[in-house]
Amino acid sequence: MEQLEPTLAAIAAADTIEAVEALRVGALGKQGWVSALLKSLGGMSPEERTSTGPRIHAAREAVTAALGERRAALESAALEAKLAAETADLSLPAPATARGSVHPVSQVMDELAEIFADMGFAVATGPEIEDDWHNFTALNMPETHPARAMHDTFYFPDHDVQGRSMLLRTHTSPVQIRSMLSQGAPLRVIAPGRVYRSDSDATHTPMFHQIEGLVIDKGIHLGHLKWTLETFLKAFFEREDIVLRLRPSYFPFTEPSVEVDVGYTLINGKRVVGGSGDATNGGWMEVLGSGMVNRKVIEFGGLDPDEWQGFAFGTGVDRLAMLKYGMDDLRAFFDGDVRWLQHYGFGALDVPTLSGGVGVRA
Ligand code: DAH
Repeated sequence: MEQLEPTLAAIAAADTIEAVEALRVGALGKQGWVSALLKSLGGMSPEERTSTGPRIHAAREAVTAALGERRAALESAALEAKLAAETADLSLPAPATARGSVHPVSQVMDELAEIFADMGFAVATGPEIEDDWHNFTALNMPETHPARAMHDTFYFPDHDVQGRSMLLRTHTSPVQIRSMLSQGAPLRVIAPGRVYRSDSDATHTPMFHQIEGLVIDKGIHLGHLKWTLETFLKAFFEREDIVLRLRPSYFPFTEPSVEVDVGYTLINGKRVVGGSGDATNGGWMEVLGSGMVNRKVIEFGGLDPDEWQGFAFGTGVDRLAMLKYGMDDLRAFFDGDVRWLQHYGFGALDVPTLSGGVGVRA
């Protein structure tokens, strides 16, 4: 029992939790001296056990109590030190404004999702790294199609396992194909997301945002398309005097194809969406590409075009944001300048809702 006094002294002197733990193992652990003494009880005669047993148990209790006390003392000292180091000056003023803001592109995408959800559209997504089959071929742009050249595509050097060229998607239209293939018909989806083209000036950035819309059902016609776009633009710009002009156009994935212009009014030399473009102080600007989904595209989507018809549309999200919130340089969207973000950004709690207004300002 000669170890008892030195052990108690060492425990009292231990200055870290780890040191206390090491002493516990040395005494009470499997190989510890107290454990060894306890084991030796088994080999003793009853008399010996009666005289020695209580002393061994007393030693074990003394060690256990000393360890507990020391550990508690060290823990409370550590807590005291931490509390002393972590002072908070509660008399300091609160920060004047909340930091950080929601980027207008994110805000507009949320607004669009909200508006289209109300018309029964779900949000669909697809990969930004696409293959040329989904990005072009299945959208009725075979390899030799001239429209491919117009897309300024970023290609990857390698092909995928099926031998398809890999690229950064040049539009959100491949999500049409992916949605038809994975969900079948009927279908009502929008697909917002990033797209890429090798193009850069005041109105073009190599990465920008589009939103795609696709409706596949029975007996769908151009009237459904016009009503949907009109309802959407009225909700988005939050005004009733939205006038649309549908112009015949060409896209490989729609037939017939229409470009949609919206009337604007000049106010202090600035174009403001609303009013007829034929008014003396107004004009038309193109806001959307759209049309009835080409039969071939419906087939590539795995559906029977004699049974299913649909319409599709696509437009630039950044441009919609500029028209609604008045920015005039696209490049500033992606500069990450804090002053721009503070000016044009939205509060985190500015969640767009149709009842509260889809475009509440921070
Ligand atoms: N994908 C076209 C583009 O990037 C935009 C577009 C036009 C999408 C017509 C459509 C559509 O769905 O019907 O220029």
